[in-house]
Amino acid sequence: MVDKIRVKNLNCFYGGKHALKSLNINVVKNEILTIIGPSNSGKTSFLRTLNRMNDNNINYSRKGEVFLDNDNIFKMNQELLRTRVGMLFAMPIPLPMSIYENIAYAPKRIGLLSKKSEIDAVVEKALRDASLWDEVKDRLDHSAIKLSGGQQQRLCIARILAIEPEVILFDEPCSGLDPISTSKVEEAMIKLKQKYTIILVTNNVKQASRVGDRTAFFLMGELIELDETAKMFVSAKDKRTEDYITGRFG
Ligand SMILES: Nc1ncnc2c1ncn2[C@@H]1O[C@H](COP(=O)(O)OP(=O)(O)O)[C@@H](O)[C@H]1O
Ligand SMILES: [Mg+2]
Repeated sequence: MVDKIRVKNLNCFYGGKHALKSLNINVVKNEILTIIGPSNSGKTSFLRTLNRMNDNNINYSRKGEVFLDNDNIFKMNQELLRTRVGMLFAMPIPLPMSIYENIAYAPKRIGLLSKKSEIDAVVEKALRDASLWDEVKDRLDHSAIKLSGGQQQRLCIARILAIEPEVILFDEPCSGLDPISTSKVEEAMIKLKQKYTIILVTNNVKQASRVGDRTAFFLMGELIELDETAKMFVSAKDKRTEDYITGRFG
């Protein structure tokens, strides 16, 4: 097993608020690591730190190191980091343009591709990998805004795939979706781990048990426990983890 990400003694602060406390976490290549925990546990702060989305927040500071392969992400060019680590949010926000253009936009902008045939191929592959192709292949020129919520979320996944990152961060991607749309997004994520390393923050403990190879339980900025999902759900080591996954709090 190869570690794709190594988090070393990571601490984050918003002013005086200590939001992440001495985290040490390794993320294995091609796994889905799910992160569970009640609100305000630092789950989103963790993902935003991995993508350096908080760098422009003057209230935010951090200590510690994160390595992507052997590269220290805090010393890396931010644009480059974001081509290697993509992030998906709870609310799908497609660009107000066609399905096709939504996906072609980023690869064109970063100058990855220019020929129409190449772009066509990228669009198709991204939509296939996001398990959306069959539903939209006959209407690629239609507005993305008209898609259902679940389709929009898979479209946003396809937009990330189009730039072929190495790691994808999902922040509660199904929190606004119905069960059928949720299962389609889960299906897409499970397929994606063949090629990508995935960290999935979920407010849904059952989702963690369905898709997580390993699960981390966060509480008030601390990592309480990290284990193989199957093990954790049968016998959590920490009482607080057990209470959370059995629905006793959170
Ligand atoms: N931009 C911010 N400014 C100040 N405090 C923040 C900010 N974002 C998060 N926090 C605080 O950091 C803690 C962790 O929040 P967050 O990472 O959003 O947790 P979660 O995603 O688990 O709900 C909370 O106490 C929250 O209020
Ligand atoms: Mg959050």
